[in-house]
This record gives sequence, C-alpha cells and structure tokens, in this order.
Amino acid sequence: MAEMKQAFVTGFPIKHSRSPLIHNYWLQRYGLTGSYKAIENSPENFPHFAKTLAEQGLRGGNVTIPHKETAFALCEKRDAAAEAIGAVNTLWIDADNKLNGGNTDAYGFAANLDAQLPDWDKGGKTALVLGAGGASRAVLYALLNRGFEKIIVVNRTVERAQALAEHFGSKILAADWDQAQGFVRTADVIVNTTSLGMSGHGEAEAFPLDFSAAKAGAVATDIVYIPLETPFLAQARQAGLRCVDGLGMLLHQAVPGFEHWFGVRPEVTDELRQIILNDVQKS
Ligand code: ATR
Repeated sequence: MAEMKQAFVTGFPIKHSRSPLIHNYWLQRYGLTGSYKAIENSPENFPHFAKTLAEQGLRGGNVTIPHKETAFALCEKRDAAAEAIGAVNTLWIDADNKLNGGNTDAYGFAANLDAQLPDWDKGGKTALVLGAGGASRAVLYALLNRGFEKIIVVNRTVERAQALAEHFGSKILAADWDQAQGFVRTADVIVNTTSLGMSGHGEAEAFPLDFSAAKAGAVATDIVYIPLETPFLAQARQAGLRCVDGLGMLLHQAVPGFEHWFGVRPEVTDELRQIILNDVQKS
C-alpha cells in the first residue's frame, strides 16, 4: 500500500484556520491518499514539534501565528522569500531529511493578482503600501520581485515603515498617515495590509484615505478577506479603481505547500473559492 502522506497546519490557537478545508478539497479533487490536519502547538511545544516531523510521520505543513519567526530560526534550509521576509509559513522535509522552510505569502499575493487582473504589474511601477507588519514584508518582497521601482510604505508607527525601508533598500520610502493622501495620485497599485476594516477589529469605519484622485486604471487590493469587501476596497471601488479582494491570496499561498507534500501542483478553482467563502460567511 502507498505510504499515507500527512501534512498539517499549526498555530496557537488554530481552530479557525481554513487551511484544512483548502488542502482536503485538493486531496479529494486529485484522488490522493493523504491527510491534512490542524494541530495546535503552544509556543513552548512548537520547537520540539517542528524538529520531530519525520518521527511523527509528517511530511511538512503550514505554520501560522505565533510560530512563523520561530519556524524561520529552526529550519536547516530556507527559500529566498523566507530569507527576505524573515518568516516561514511552509515547512517540508527534503530528500536529505533536512527541515526546509519557505514563505509563500509573497507568491500568494502576486498569484492572486495575476489570476484576477493579469495586467496588474504591466503599467507604471509605483506602489503605495499601507501597513508595516509581517504581511507588509511579504507584499514588499512580491512588489520588488515584479519590478516596482518606488514603493511608499505608510504606517501609523512610522519607525516600523522605516525599518522596512532599511531592510528592503532604496526603492522603499517610509511615510506617515499625514503624508499618505498625497501619494494616492502617484500609485499604480495600492495595497492595504493593515487590520483597519477587518471583522472583529472594531466597528466598520470609513477608511482614512480618499481615492478619488487615483490614477486611471490604478489597482487596489486588500490582504484582509473578512469581510470580503473591506471599507478600503469599497471606497476604492467607488472611486473607480480596479479592485481585488484578499481571499485569493489565502488560496494561492497554499499551492506550493500542497505540491511539496503531495506531489501535485493544485489549481485554485472557483469551486474552492466558493467553499471557503461559504465557510467565512458562516462564521
Ligand atoms: P500583520 O502581520 O498581519 O501585518 P501586524 O504586524 O499586527 O499584523 O500589523 C498590523 C498593521 O496594521 C500594522 O501596520 C499596524 O500599524 P502599527 O504598526 O502602527 O501598529 C496597522 N494598524 C492596526 N490598527 C491600526 C489602526 N487603528 N490605525 C492604523 N493602522 C493600524
């Protein structure tokens, strides 16, 4: 009998993760014998868990909050995205039995835009990125990889934006919210990576930027997908920007992991999107 391939998502807490729905959809779609489960690990347990994957019969898995930086430190090998972002969200054991770590968030961000708006990166190369947390790092890495020449990072705590500018180099310009409005008309792509407008983070308020002066054809995308239409996206859409929601990033970031563990590069289908959307709307 073929060996049962097993993978996981781990975090603390982990019960709200939608990764099992995504990977089990693909296992079924491709008729593969395998399993993908949510496994909770406290910060104390996580290092032992990650170092003993093979003994547990696990080929690898996804890592989420709060373990992404610890996973980065524990890996024996890391891909270029993980090195640049400083966090690992995907683990796999390679042919030499080494623990490998990758970061697929930047891939997921760009692949989602490629799928929804294939010309999103074909025009001008100036971006405005709102927020300077972990997600912002992945977005900056993706934008730099796609040849963006000027990326303004706006953050409430401007020091965090400055730290990103130091880390990623001279194409990044740090700014505070008082300056943000002035940059709207210069941007070809505007990305919200802040938690402003995310469900559970206070009342849905107006997003603190006016997009009416944005360039014709400018793209707006949010990495938040609950709600699917965030106040940021609603206002950008109203102002005529081309909008892409954040759900596709979640789906596309899962693709490389599945391929590592189960040997098939899976497709992000409309059916999968609908399954996750139904689950999100239930919660
Ligand atoms: P993630 O890893 O998902 O990016 P994070 O590191 O907590 O999460 O970052 C959240 C981002 O949302 C930060 O840019 C944060 O700004 P600060 O660095 O100043 O905290 C931003 N953010 C959260 N609440 C905000 C608010 N009320 N106004 C403006 N920015 C906010």
